[in-house]
Amino acid sequence: EKGTYPHFMLKEVDEQPFVIRKIIQEYQDEDDRIKLDPEVREAMKECDRIYIIAAGTSYHAGLVGKQFLEKISGIPTEVHVASEFSYNMPLLSEKPLFVFISQSGETADSRSVLVQTKKLGHPALTLTNVPGSTLSREADYTLHLHAGPEIAVASTKAYTAQIAVLAILAVDTARAKGIELEFDPMQELGIAANAMEALTDQKEELENLTREYLSTTRNCFFIGRSIDHYVGVEGALKLKEISYIQAEGFAGGELKHGTIALIEEGTPVIALATQESVSPSIRGNVQEVEARGANTLTISMKGIEEEGDEFAIPKVHDLLTPLATVIPLQLIAYYAALHRDCDVDKPRNLAKSVTVE
Ligand code: M6R
Repeated sequence: EKGTYPHFMLKEVDEQPFVIRKIIQEYQDEDDRIKLDPEVREAMKECDRIYIIAAGTSYHAGLVGKQFLEKISGIPTEVHVASEFSYNMPLLSEKPLFVFISQSGETADSRSVLVQTKKLGHPALTLTNVPGSTLSREADYTLHLHAGPEIAVASTKAYTAQIAVLAILAVDTARAKGIELEFDPMQELGIAANAMEALTDQKEELENLTREYLSTTRNCFFIGRSIDHYVGVEGALKLKEISYIQAEGFAGGELKHGTIALIEEGTPVIALATQESVSPSIRGNVQEVEARGANTLTISMKGIEEEGDEFAIPKVHDLLTPLATVIPLQLIAYYAALHRDCDVDKPRNLAKSVTVE
């Protein structure tokens, strides 16, 4: 039930901080240690490469997950769009572990990869919001997302839940492998949850920004570097899916290789600048598009924000910024759809779970 909310999507956006807190609770034991199926831990420790398989928003969560698995656990990780994998299978390593990410657990494209990789005898782990689902039943192991039912077609809380569970999995694996970490993941996730809650309280500001930047536009670009790039592609998907504004997310450095040709007077460009290490470069890209007339909206992070930034998320751990950055992007998409009288929860031509290949 959506209660007092006008749309499920808005309710689900607001639920996100609580979902993250629930995940912290579910994945922690009485002694504050990570609670995880020992078989999953073993499979993670044993594999020499991870192949993440997913579609849409879950694929975007996978792109963020790759950063965790490589940077925190030191496991080479590939992320594949499920529908491409079957006929374009990469060369597999000796001991691959397949990780399926799926809110519904019913996505046919992902399932067909699971059938294929099982035939080859490779182990599979599914991260899903629906433990009894096909992808969960057919994989060797399951990790539950604990996001609660997600009704709106546009995925929001499943995305942040997937990122949180992937972060916990990466940290657990690192510890199992004896890698020393400089941060407490549960504490950092708690900080991120608080940041998310603060962001869901900034609806009015975000609605105003949406009105200012997107009210009449036909297109919109999202730029970012490093992990911000992956959040940008998710922001673009959200926007196009529910508001029908043509949106594209890409790496800031790619601008000069083509896309900048599309920038004209008034083109909205949403720039994500939450990563200190690439801040000067992305800000350089903002200047480049502004010089061609773009209407830029920069979303940065407290502590590294600069004068003139339109919006800043609260400070969170560098690797966990997607949890926070995605919230203004979800809300911008929501208000853009609302202002255009679109059917927010049930966008045209789309189904909640895609059970055909
Ligand atoms: O249930 P799944 O996570 O496997 O679904 C994958 C995609 O179909 C899904 O994320 C889709 O892209 C959403 N509508 C995006 O908001």
